[in-house]
Amino acid sequence: MRHLEGAYALIFKSRHYPNELIACKRGSPLLLGVKELNEGVCNASAFHDAKFLSKNGNPKELFLSSDANALIEHTKKVLVIEDGEVVHLKEGGVSILKFDNEKGRNGGSLSRPASVQRALSILEMEVEQINKGKYEHYMQKEIHEQPESLTTTMRGRLIRGGSCKAKTVLLGGLKDHLKTIRRSRRIVFIGCGTSYNAALAARPILEELSGVPVTMEIASDLLDRQGPIYREDTAVFVSQSGETADTLHALEYALENGALCVGITNTVGSVIARKTHCGVHINAGCEIGVASTKAYTSQIVVMAILALAIGGDTISNQERREAIIDGLFDLPNKIRDVLKLDQEMKDLAKLLIAEQSLLVFGRGYNYATALEGALKVKEVALMHSEGILAGEMKHGPLALVDENLPIVVIATRDACFSKQQSVIQQLHARKGRLIVMCSKGDAASVCSGGACRVIEVSYVEDCLQPVVNVVPLQLLAYHLTVLRGYNVDQPRNLAKSVTTQ
Ligand code: AGP
Repeated sequence: MRHLEGAYALIFKSRHYPNELIACKRGSPLLLGVKELNEGVCNASAFHDAKFLSKNGNPKELFLSSDANALIEHTKKVLVIEDGEVVHLKEGGVSILKFDNEKGRNGGSLSRPASVQRALSILEMEVEQINKGKYEHYMQKEIHEQPESLTTTMRGRLIRGGSCKAKTVLLGGLKDHLKTIRRSRRIVFIGCGTSYNAALAARPILEELSGVPVTMEIASDLLDRQGPIYREDTAVFVSQSGETADTLHALEYALENGALCVGITNTVGSVIARKTHCGVHINAGCEIGVASTKAYTSQIVVMAILALAIGGDTISNQERREAIIDGLFDLPNKIRDVLKLDQEMKDLAKLLIAEQSLLVFGRGYNYATALEGALKVKEVALMHSEGILAGEMKHGPLALVDENLPIVVIATRDACFSKQQSVIQQLHARKGRLIVMCSKGDAASVCSGGACRVIEVSYVEDCLQPVVNVVPLQLLAYHLTVLRGYNVDQPRNLAKSVTTQ
């Protein structure tokens, strides 16, 4: 460990040391699962170092894993191994040793800590969550679970009715920090991939309600540039897994620079959840498919609630706030509605099965939807796909347009609608092969003469529309992948948690 650089979680087994196993980690996650074969005895027990197994005489099984999902079918009791620790399993006993950096530098060695007294954590998940149930793939299950996952995300966080009749929100994990966030010089969203896209979708509403400038950072780019982060900043780290190495390193960087660090994760006990000053769990339930779907929609919803919480109760935006809260209450129903497009998306996938490329144009709230739809198509269907800011069309992408290249244009009702109508006309004039997503009843206004294919979705409050709009694109990516014969849940070369830089 003295010589290794970077992030790792390693297990060693040697024929020279039979019945022994060594595990160690730095940066990457590592969990020790403890299953008492005589269950019930070890409830809420603390971990007391060596001879743990033989202490009360109960036989135990031990599991080492980087992910709780792999443990849950065996045990819910886990010890989260921390950076610099070494786990030594020997003849049924387990000891944990701490690598002491200082001693190491001076030529010292591993030393047993004075006491390892961390309590075993109990995983809050059920084995059913990791079963596919009636679905063929996890991605399919997770797309269809979204009405329920969103309900869970919002549970206890939206307040409507009661004695004061006020509509308001509550984020327990942030309530002591809201004042500081409101006073910050700016809010910086930091994440990677889908989590970055979710933050991008939420950015406009946060800007509108908080009045604080909001900037966006892809974690790796922030680190490459060593971009400025100040103590007056609030840095919001968005990560489904809570273990993404780039996001984690950006968090360490922001902590060093003195910013208030907020975590938005789906994984209780993850390193990002633990190292941030405060945060919100999105409670989307366990997401197994490598392609993030339900976590994306829950992340946007949590960040919309965050915007409402930071925005406070100013009279000027009360009507707007109440409309958003009503929209949030109704969102699971709207998602149920849009999931009915499943067959339609499968039919569309059949038409696109042999294409080389797919462009997705969006703007405003739905620029993020364009990026996320394209990311889904490329990562699982292995088809080149690009999300394009429609406002940039004339600055380059227009050159690609011809009668062969399929283009999805997102043109649901919001302040950008008329601009998107004009984009459609211009693409149409270049004989573009258009698939237009619009609000129900708008087919004729976006596509006169039936010259293009239309996907009609339910209308919701503009800032929540990305949550609805992404669903048909998730379904399209899913069906394209199945039809093209690729692995939906484990796309080649990708991992669910990207724990290396
Ligand atoms: C999403 O479908 C991808 N698997 C990927 O972009 C992912 O969102 C990214 O690696 C960030 O992961 P995180 O949310 O766990 O930090």
